[in-house]
Amino acid sequence: MKIAVIGCGYLGAVHAAAMASLGYETIGIDIDEAKIERLRRGEPPFFEPGLPELLRAGVDAGTLRFTADVAEAAGSDVVFVAVGTPQRAGSDAADLTYVDAAIASLLPHLAPGTLVAGKSTVPVGTAQRLAELIAPTGATLAWNPEFLREGFAVEDTLAPDRLVYGVADGDEASVAALDAVYAAILARGTERLVMSFATAELVKVSANAFLATKISFINAMAELSETVGADVTQLADAIGLDARIGRRFLNAGLGFGGGCLPKDIRAFQARATELGHEQTLGFLREVDQINLRRRDRMVELIDGELARVGGDRVALLGLAFKPNSDDVRDSPAIDVARRLQEQGRVVTCYDPEAGETALRSVPTLTIAASVEEAIRGADVLALGTEWQEFRDLDPVAVAAQTEARVIVDGRNTLDAKRWAAAGFKVIGLGRPDTAPASGALASEPSA
Ligand code: UDX
Repeated sequence: MKIAVIGCGYLGAVHAAAMASLGYETIGIDIDEAKIERLRRGEPPFFEPGLPELLRAGVDAGTLRFTADVAEAAGSDVVFVAVGTPQRAGSDAADLTYVDAAIASLLPHLAPGTLVAGKSTVPVGTAQRLAELIAPTGATLAWNPEFLREGFAVEDTLAPDRLVYGVADGDEASVAALDAVYAAILARGTERLVMSFATAELVKVSANAFLATKISFINAMAELSETVGADVTQLADAIGLDARIGRRFLNAGLGFGGGCLPKDIRAFQARATELGHEQTLGFLREVDQINLRRRDRMVELIDGELARVGGDRVALLGLAFKPNSDDVRDSPAIDVARRLQEQGRVVTCYDPEAGETALRSVPTLTIAASVEEAIRGADVLALGTEWQEFRDLDPVAVAAQTEARVIVDGRNTLDAKRWAAAGFKVIGLGRPDTAPASGALASEPSA
């Protein structure tokens, strides 16, 4: 089987490498020549655990190739479309420029029998429109949304929770073609659901809307907890034990960012409004607002501590929108860093992987090469991303390397008692502060 994947970003590069690992002759196509060059050498253009090994194996075996020439998609049995659908400038709606350009460039190379399988997240109604564009070539369209999480992209692609096929009424040939592509995954008993284009498109955006809502729900509880002195992490543990609710995605903190949830909930609302359903998804506006307010709160907490200790230097640990990723798109931590800088604070940041991407996105940032370098001379420490490296920090060692005696944990991820025992005041989001333990190993600096 010959597979082409158009778009070699977070989604497409992983999908292409996964297809090659399943034994298919795979070609990844992207308009970005520099990206293609790197991929040809087996180097991913971004950080994703497991991807370097998978890429190199495919490239070395000769089953995985990359090109900037879309004509090389000709003769493929299945062409996956995995290009980005960012937020449109000046609007909440999805920008379909890349999807439309990919399909337009593909049209001259399609032939009867080819299956075009859309993976990009698109507004409901898009697949039907594209299917009509493709029909004269004799090729067919299916919509096969992807649910992969960055940081777990390889695992989610090769061992997904479910496979979703959106197909035209009665199109059994496309179902059979996708079944053949995913044969190894289906053989392990993975659920496969066949539905209409519109349902498949909605499955994807509603899944992301639900996840975003779950996070904002717990962050709304965090706001209330701050006022009444409750602890949102205990609250999440308690309600999460109800199997109907579940503990996953109930971590209160700085909230969601990344290339998917924020823009997808906005695009979903914009599409619903076009369809006459502004009220139906009106709650997503609140979900977005609650999420953004957590960033304000983090800045406010850091400001408060700077005022208390009479300093202006902040060490921010973590810049990626989540751990195990170097992606800083709509990253809450970056937003906090930028705002503190705008207020004239001196912010030194460190991230195990995202320093370079962060600097590309906000060139004014000061990036340290290590935790040690970032915290040296700081007045207040802050945590923006829950990397394992930060969870593993020894607070006693940290206390020896910095004057700061307070840490604002934007992800509620540190062991507050341990940090307090080492002399730190620990401030979480939605939980009472933990005061430094009396007789702590390190004491408050005399200033
Ligand atoms: C998301 C969806 O999970 C995935 O299914 C979809 O295909 C793409 O969008 P991703 O953007 O990789 O994936 O990240 P995810 O793990 O969902 O986290 C999103 C954001 O929510 C991160 O900023 C994370 O820190 C935050 N988050 C997550 C919380 O604040 N609390 C939680 O409990 C969980």
